[in-house]
Formats: sequence, structure tokens, C-alpha cells
Amino acid sequence: MPDPTSADVQDNAAQIAYWNDKAAVTWTAFQERLDTLFEPITALAIDAAAPAPGEHVIDIGCGCGATVLALASRIGPTGRVVGLDVSEPMSARARERIEAAGLTNAQVILSDAATHVFPSKDADLLFSRFGVMFFADPVAAFANLRQSMRPGGRLLCAAWRSLADNPWFDVPLQAARPLLPPQPPIGPDEPGPFAFANADRTRRILTQGGWRDATLTRHDVPMHFADAGHIDQAAEFATRVGMLARILADADPDVRSRARQAVAEALKAYDGPDGITLSGSIWLLSARA
Ligand SMILES: C[S@@+](CC[C@H](N)C(=O)[O-])C[C@H]1O[C@@H](n2cnc3c(N)ncnc32)[C@H](O)[C@@H]1O
Repeated sequence: MPDPTSADVQDNAAQIAYWNDKAAVTWTAFQERLDTLFEPITALAIDAAAPAPGEHVIDIGCGCGATVLALASRIGPTGRVVGLDVSEPMSARARERIEAAGLTNAQVILSDAATHVFPSKDADLLFSRFGVMFFADPVAAFANLRQSMRPGGRLLCAAWRSLADNPWFDVPLQAARPLLPPQPPIGPDEPGPFAFANADRTRRILTQGGWRDATLTRHDVPMHFADAGHIDQAAEFATRVGMLARILADADPDVRSRARQAVAEALKAYDGPDGITLSGSIWLLSARA
């Protein structure tokens, strides 16, 4: 079993900086639209996790709090949800939403999930919607997360499958690519949205982190960018969130504007009566402590 306090595990500094800077600006600005975009995924993940009244749930990388709210409504007043996140602005948004909803069974802690010391080891459910792919040392991080659980407690996390399996990421990226400087290839072990795309690697991470019965289930989901005809809105969204946003964040305004036009052109092919919708594909990871 890896030592969760080892030097490697501490090395999440680059991700922590990113989630407190550029990513925090877009994720808080687009919070409502991202929550709408992810609605089908939230429904799938929460149903699979089956949070029950009275349970203690931990939500890793809870961001602006959508799933904290959804989990809190399922576990009821006798349960408890603890969200954990490294992003100060996103945690602040989550806390505002908890307060606005008048919830007394939910809280958000600003802390690195890879090294956070869990005071009680009684969680029934470890949940995450896209918050567990950013650890420098994922095996040590999952070993640490296991420390929060009661024996037999369950894990349910949503993570992206590959870029090629996710046209909603890939179509805008390919459309803008001729305008962008060459990008270094993303290593299969690097933290980031596709860090868990490889099913064998992901099962290995969970198993080596001490989790039992690690299983990955594929789900394909519609990703609704905008209502029919609203190409410009869809193109703006597609260039402000996801892979392309990360690259364009450092580009000059002229490149950003031309990229947006190229993306708008590409998205026209996906404009149908139900709106501008591309497909996405996720793994639901499940395991037991
Ligand atoms: C892709 S966002 C998902 C946010 C949220 N779960 C959602 O679905 O809207 C990833 C989140 O993981 C958080 N995160 C990244 N590394 C983390 C770490 N080591 N510990 C806790 N949270 C982390 C980020 O700050 C960010 O809020």
C-alpha cells in the first residue's frame, strides 16, 4: 500500500494553481450552463451511487457544488455530505448554494483530497463527478481516500473516456487546431480530464489504492450545447470550457476570435431540431472499501 504522505502525492501544485485561476473563472461564470450540460451524467451517476437516507457521503472535487446539493437531497436531514475541493472560488460558490438552499446536512472543505486527513472513517459513499482525474499520484490519492470509508463502503465516480470517444470535446478542438500552435501530446499517465480513459490503468489505480471489486461501466451521453439555431452561443461555450478553453486561455484575442468562428462553422453540422448536441462518453467507476 502506498504511503499517502509521500513526497510524490504532495505534487498537485500545478493543478491546484489551475483550478484557482483560469479554470475557476470559467467554471464559476458558466456554472449554470455546465450543470445543465452535465445533467444526464449527474442523473446516471447519482442513480448508480444510490445514496440512501442517513448516509455519510464524501464528494471529491465537488467544484461549484451541483452534486453536493443533489446528494444532500437524497440522504435527507439525518445524512451528511462533505464536499472536498482545492479551488477557493469554486468552493465558495458551492457554499453559497448550500446556504441559499438552506441545507444543514452539507458542507464544503477546501483541501487536497490526495492528502486530506479524514477525521472519521465512516463514509458510506465516496462520490465524484469528474473530480478525481487530477492527482499527480492517483494510487496514493485513492489509498488516502479509502481511509475515509467504513469497511465495505462504496465508491462511485464519473470520469471521461478518451478524447476520440468524446466528440463534444474533440470536434471543437479539431476545428480550431489549424489556428493553434502545436500542442505537446498528453501522456497517458498525466493528470487531466482523460487520465482515466484507459480502463485497465484505472482498474489498476483503484486496486493498488486498496479498493475491491473495481468495475468500469461505459455510458454514452448527449451533450447539449445550445438550443437549435444558437450556433454562436454554442461556439462561445465550446471555446470557454474543456480542452480548447485550456489552450485558448493563453492565445491572443485574434486567434481566440478566429477559433470561435471555426468552431461555429463545425458545429453547424450538429444543429438539429433538439438543439446543438454532440455525444460524450464516460466511465462510471465503482468499487468497495
Ligand atoms: C472538472 S472539475 C469538476 C467539478 C465538479 N465535480 C463538477 O462536476 O462540476 C474538477 C474539480 O476537481 C477539483 N480538484 C482537482 N484536483 C483536486 C484535488 N487534488 N483535491 C480536491 N479537488 C481537486 C478542481 O478544483 C475542480 O473543482
